[in-house]
Parts: sequence; structure tokens; C-alpha cells
Amino acid sequence: MDSLGNLTRTAYCGCVDELMVGQKITVMGWADRVRDLGNLIFIDLRDREGIVQIVAHPEQAAALKKASQVRPEYVLAVTGEVKRRTQETVNAAITTGTIEVEAEEIKILNVSHTPPFPIGDAGTTSEETRLKYRYLDLRRPRFQRNFRLRHQVCLETRKFLDSRGFLEIETPFLTKSTPEGARDYLVPSRIYPGQFYALPQSPQLFKQLLMVSGFDKYFQIVRCFRDEDLRADRQPEFTQIDIEMSYPQPETVFELIESLLTVVFNLIGVSVPRPIPRLSYQEAMARFGTDRPDMRFGLEFIDFTEIFKSSGFDVFREIASGPGLIKGIRVPGRADYSRKEVDTLGELVKNSGAQALSWVRLTPEGLKSSLGKVISPEELQATADKAGMLTGDVLLLVAGTSKVVHESLSALRFHLAQKENLIPANEFKFLWVYDFPLLQWDDQEKRYFACHHPFTSPKEEDIHLLDSDPGRVRAKAYDIVLNGTEIGGGSVRIHQQKMQKRVFEALGITPEEAEMKFAFFLEALRYGAPPHGGIALGVDRLVMILAGERSLRDVIAFPKTARAVDMMSGSPSPVSPDQLRELHLRIKED
Ligand code: AMO
Repeated sequence: MDSLGNLTRTAYCGCVDELMVGQKITVMGWADRVRDLGNLIFIDLRDREGIVQIVAHPEQAAALKKASQVRPEYVLAVTGEVKRRTQETVNAAITTGTIEVEAEEIKILNVSHTPPFPIGDAGTTSEETRLKYRYLDLRRPRFQRNFRLRHQVCLETRKFLDSRGFLEIETPFLTKSTPEGARDYLVPSRIYPGQFYALPQSPQLFKQLLMVSGFDKYFQIVRCFRDEDLRADRQPEFTQIDIEMSYPQPETVFELIESLLTVVFNLIGVSVPRPIPRLSYQEAMARFGTDRPDMRFGLEFIDFTEIFKSSGFDVFREIASGPGLIKGIRVPGRADYSRKEVDTLGELVKNSGAQALSWVRLTPEGLKSSLGKVISPEELQATADKAGMLTGDVLLLVAGTSKVVHESLSALRFHLAQKENLIPANEFKFLWVYDFPLLQWDDQEKRYFACHHPFTSPKEEDIHLLDSDPGRVRAKAYDIVLNGTEIGGGSVRIHQQKMQKRVFEALGITPEEAEMKFAFFLEALRYGAPPHGGIALGVDRLVMILAGERSLRDVIAFPKTARAVDMMSGSPSPVSPDQLRELHLRIKED
């Protein structure tokens, strides 16, 4: 092995170009690929900028000898002259494909064990192995690209928000729990036995307090911690672009975020259509069965409830004349779905609690339906008319409670879009969803929960319903949705103590509980809190979409698995009895 000595790098591998032809340069990096032709050895040398071809000739005997010892992932320093490649050896696939570096000196700065997977092609390696050796996984060009993009997103965000007068202010991590709907990660206090800090689910209360303090416009690119069931788009720790301002209308927030997204999407050459379309929560649910509809394809729901209000078919009549719904999706040109295909779709809706999937087909022979024996020909015709069916179409129907109908058809809609290849690649469809309900009833717990969080302001015109019909109160809350993913959410807040107490009450939070958990915050609202509001964007989700990735793990340097485990460091892990003792903790033996 050689020492670096006082050698310095003069160029990045990926940045060597034709302008350097004839120059003597020094590049440093990892051997990506070595091709030994005996009297000629080619080494692809890789650094974060890309790859450059090193060639060792017999004329430089020492360099050739050194090259013959090189194995993949050895760390090299190569000094040599940049040469133009001959026409036949040009590699159009890489940016440095027209040149190569003729080695005069090769230093082996470090050796490497054979990596557990080839850096250039980890295609078939399990994610578990890749995460265990994450530092090697991250050497791959795909990740080098993703993290550069992530850096640029944060940099552009900071520049943009600074230009709009926002100040970045840090808020604590060792804090008191702020409810955002997940469990807290708790940190035991050593000094105060039996007492705990909570890691913030978001800086929600602190940013509101910063408005009380008069900072007027705050932001923070900040880590949040939530102990919740994980999915591909959820991590236990994730990053938000957290924003708060004084005296905003929802419009103020929409304009700010649309301008920010314009700057950020410019990084990948995508222009954001403005204004971004908007849907009320009600309309989003009615047409797509979800508060984060993917607008890249149609397959909107059609409502047939009216048609069956006095049907002779008992099941449909009871659903339609009660609070239930009968809705469906028309799939153009797919009256030819086989029985097996329809059965598979039926299984899908049953997973969301639907009893069955009914179908209507319009073929050249006329209308046919799985409901043919139970509904009247008039009802069948009215259904086909309402759906605007054309010959060759199939209509898929679900009847049940609105929750079941919306959830099952929403899953079906997405499945059909994939099955029929209706999701265009490289398209970005943004949507604001607004007027969320303030509260949502939880049937299991038999109480209301905050739809957004308990600090969200009700709409003025709905305040009178707070006592009589709380479920119908709409909130000044909004989400920004991109291609079916919620990338951000926020609201105008409650800024008066009296209203905050009323909303706590509607949430079933007793005055004692409110005092225990939020005394400091309720107190602050007594000292001239200005009207305020804001939003938080999920950085990881945003970068995931920008990078064209499907998992948050691909844009987080050291992520956790779906089971919240860090495969590399092996956390969570037991701690020593001494540490437990210091923290006044005892592990219960089962
Ligand atoms: P909310 O809970 O909607 O709002 O979070 C804001 C955004 O953060 C992202 N996000 C997540 N990303 C990855 N993993 C997770 N587990 C995760 N949870 C949330 C989403 C989401 O839209 N305090 C409020 C904001 C406000 O009212 O200003 C809040 O945190 O992209």
C-alpha cells in the first residue's frame, strides 16, 4: 500500500473533459472495474462525479505493475496525461467517454475486501444486505445523484424562504409531546426519576409560540420523530420544511408553497402549473374516495345511490335509503374482463371491507350484469345511462357504508390504473385539498380526533356547529398532494385561548388534561397571540418523487427498515444495566 504523501487531487474523475487533453492531472477514487489484457490494463476509476478510464501501458512499467494488483473498490491515486481516445474506443455511455488518463504513477491508497455486492450492479442484492452495508450502497451513482438532489432541494428552499423574509430558527428535540396522531419516542430523564422528554412529532407548538414572540415568518428544515406503523412513504424519523407566519390567509400559504415548489421542481426541469388545482375534501372524497387523489388518471367514481332508493332489490334499497352509498367506476373498453379478472378485482374490494363487487357490461348484444336477476331492467338501464357507458365498457360497482365504498373503490381505482397502464410516466399532478373536517369520529375509541391537529382553526361559518354537530365543522386546513402522495399539510391556527379550550373540549380533552399537557401553550395564548398559520412539507417524500424513487429509504442516507430497525448499526439495541440504573429504569421480564 502507498501513502498519499503530499499528493493532491487536481480533478474529479467524472469531470475530466476534452479541454484537459494534454494536461497532467491527478485523480483519486475507487476502482470500479478492472480489465487486464496482459500488457494493457484498463481501470474505471470512480468518484462522486462519475467514472474516468485509466489506462496503464507497458511503457510505464511501474504503473502497469501496480495496476495489475488493483481489485474492485481499491482506493487509488492516479497521475497521468489526459489523452483523446481513438474513434473506435469512444464510449458514448459516459460523459468522459472520449478521453482517458494514461497512467504515469498509480498509488494504492487502500485495499478493499470483495464487497458483499458489486457497486456497479446491486440489482439482485436484497435490500437487507444493502442496508447492512449502507456506506457501500451509497457509493452507487444512483444514491450519489439522489443525495445531491436532496442537498439542492434544501439549499433552494433556504434561499427562497430567506428571499421571502423567513428566518430559520431551531426548536428543541428534548421536549414535551405535541400530538400529531402518532406515538411519541420518549427519552428518560436521568436527573428526574420517572420523568421523560418526548422527541417532537413536529415543532408545531414551538413555531406557534415563535409567532407569539413576534418573529412573524419562521421556517426550519427539521427532523421529526413519530412512532407509527411504517409504510413505504413513512419513516420513524423524517424531515420537514416547517413554515409558520403571522396574519396569513390560506391563499397566502398557497401562493408561498406554489412559488417554492416552482423553484424546487425547476431543479429537475419540471414547471409547476399555477395556480395548482384545488378540491374541497368533500369533493375529493366523493369523486376519488380519498383525501389525496392521484390526478394523473381519470376513473372517477360515479354515484348511483339515487337510482336504488326504492329498488326491489332489498340490499341496495336498504343501503341507498340509509346513510350508505352505491358507487362505481367505468372502465372504458374492458367489457372483455374475464371472470377470473373480475374475481381478482372482487377480492381487492373485499380486502377493504366491501361485501361484493358487482359489474355491468355493455356489449354489442346489450347490457349484462351480475345484478341482472335482482335489479329491474329500468334500474340497469338508468345505471348504464348515468355512467355514460359505451359499447365495450365495463362498470364496477360497490355498495355499502361511505367508508367502505370510498376505501374499496379508491384501492380499486389505483389498481385499475396500474393494470390498464393509465399512469403516465414523468407526469407531476399537484392538487390542494382544503376544507378538511375539523374532527373525525373514531368508532373504536368512541370519541372525536383532530383531523389535522388540535391547534387548527375551525372555519368561522361552522363554529356554531361545534357543540351541536362537531363532525360537520370544517377546518381551515389544507394538504398539498402530488401524484397521490400527501407531500405537505398545514392550517390556519386557533390564536385565542377561549377557542382553543373549546376545541380541546370537543376532542374530549378534559380541562385538567389540557392543563397538564399544554398549560404553557394556553398561557401564551393569553398574551396577544397574533392570528397565524403555516404548513409543513415532507422533504423525504418530496425528494423521493423528484428523484423518481418509490421508497423513502432511497433518499434517506441511513434509513430504518419497515420494522424501524437500523440494519447497519443494529439499533434499537439493549443497553447496559448501568445505563438502565442511571435512568431509573427496570426492564420487565415476561
Ligand atoms: P403533518 O403531520 O401533515 O403536519 O406532516 C407534514 C408532512 O410531513 C410528511 N410526513 C412524513 N414523512 C415521512 N415519514 C413520516 N412518518 C411522515 N409523517 C409526515 C408528510 C406530511 O404531509 N405540524 C403539522 C404541519 C402544520 O400544521 O404546519 C404537521 O406535522 O409529507
